[in-house]
Amino acid sequence: MTEQPVVGILMGSDNDYEIMKETAVALKQFGLPFEMTVSSAHRTPERTAKFVREAKGRGIKVLIAGAGAAAHLAGVIAAETTLPVIAVPIDSTPLNGLDALLAMVQMPAGIPVATMAIGKPGARNAGIFAAQLLAVNDEELTGKLVAFKAEMAAGVELKAEALKRRLDEDFGQS
Ligand code: RP5
Repeated sequence: MTEQPVVGILMGSDNDYEIMKETAVALKQFGLPFEMTVSSAHRTPERTAKFVREAKGRGIKVLIAGAGAAAHLAGVIAAETTLPVIAVPIDSTPLNGLDALLAMVQMPAGIPVATMAIGKPGARNAGIFAAQLLAVNDEELTGKLVAFKAEMAAGVELKAEALKRRLDEDFGQS
């Protein structure tokens, strides 16, 4: 990334990358420069705090945290900043991400984190949600989001047409 990053992504382990890559895909799609690194709330608390405290000064406007297990990363980040924090629960344990989801979504009053769905859909949505936050004061980015929604809607129309044809073939009805 050569442009100044506006989104900071932290993940608790490099093992979370396959999921968090989805966030990078979404940000890239909307042309949003990001930075991404590994930092754990439990294993490297100082590194995490430093990254977050310095984020605003680097031009970061939204922070995204992906973590699994007893996932305190997003909450710890939110405790250190007034930037909006988006959380992605990772399904990296025998509880399939339910542990991380509850740890992230059940924040006490006063320290909000915007928690997405577990795994890849949540990671993708974290990137889109960051774009939506940044689009509030950005007409060009808003235009990209409008086009993205229109593209999705067109995809559903095509699928509905394809299903209609299959129903005709299989049952002579639609
Ligand atoms: C969390 O614990 C990480 O986010 C990861 O999902 C999970 C397991 O970490 P590793 O032992 O795979 O590094 O902190």
